[in-house]
Amino acid sequence: MATIGVFDSGIGGLTVLSEALRQAPSHHYIYLADSANAPYGEKSSEWVAARSLDLCHWLVREGCQALIIACNTATAEAIANIRHEMPAIPIIGIEPGVKPAVKKSQNHKIGVLATQNTLKSDKFKALLEGLDHDCQLITQAGLGLVPLIESGALDTAETEALLREHLAPMQSAQIDTLVLGCTHYPFLAPLIKKILGPEVEIIDTSEAVVKQLCRKLEEHHLLQSVPPRIIHLYSTLDAEALSAQAKQLIPAAFEQHSVQTSTVF
Ligand code: SIN
Repeated sequence: MATIGVFDSGIGGLTVLSEALRQAPSHHYIYLADSANAPYGEKSSEWVAARSLDLCHWLVREGCQALIIACNTATAEAIANIRHEMPAIPIIGIEPGVKPAVKKSQNHKIGVLATQNTLKSDKFKALLEGLDHDCQLITQAGLGLVPLIESGALDTAETEALLREHLAPMQSAQIDTLVLGCTHYPFLAPLIKKILGPEVEIIDTSEAVVKQLCRKLEEHHLLQSVPPRIIHLYSTLDAEALSAQAKQLIPAAFEQHSVQTSTVF
């Protein structure tokens, strides 16, 4: 039986959990939202690295045999060290889908919306240096978006106004592809489509991340299924609120799995 830990600064990783349940439903999942400390995107690199390592240790103590760091910022700041500290555990991270965007873009003008920490990380710089195509990349830190998403303001005038401000330089540059470089942002996809129009392709990396999870589970012989399937939702702030948000944002999770919730730390 595989128990898979999914960790994020808050509710953003639910977008990845939802995809994991679609592609790999026959597992137990432990989801940990560090909502008491969200957002991570504007905290110091040292803090994000230390906190992410602590929470991954906690997930392993809870019985997780594989981990998804479903937070772009934590992946950028912490994954190398976490892998070093836990060499026996498959650890899957998430990075902005710039490579698939380069393949899809027709006019080679690509927007990347991510947190300030992700954009200034060495991991992101290395990702850009590894690109083998010439593209114009318009990067934008989505300052202020994560707190709005955490509070459930997915479709408010305030969120739309802030999003319009962040997307304006990309619209002026006439991007045809937008990379969502934070797992929170797919929840804003309807609003983003409304602002950018249907002709701009939106790239979300959850699907590729879960494919990578499945490959790792196979390599580690962890693909067997054992019912009953359980999802345990943990929040460092308010598990009831997390459960209510998950029910609204990823209702399918509650159909096939028995869901338990707890507040921790
Ligand atoms: C945040 O907590 O600021 C967002 C996390 C992410 O980069 O996915």
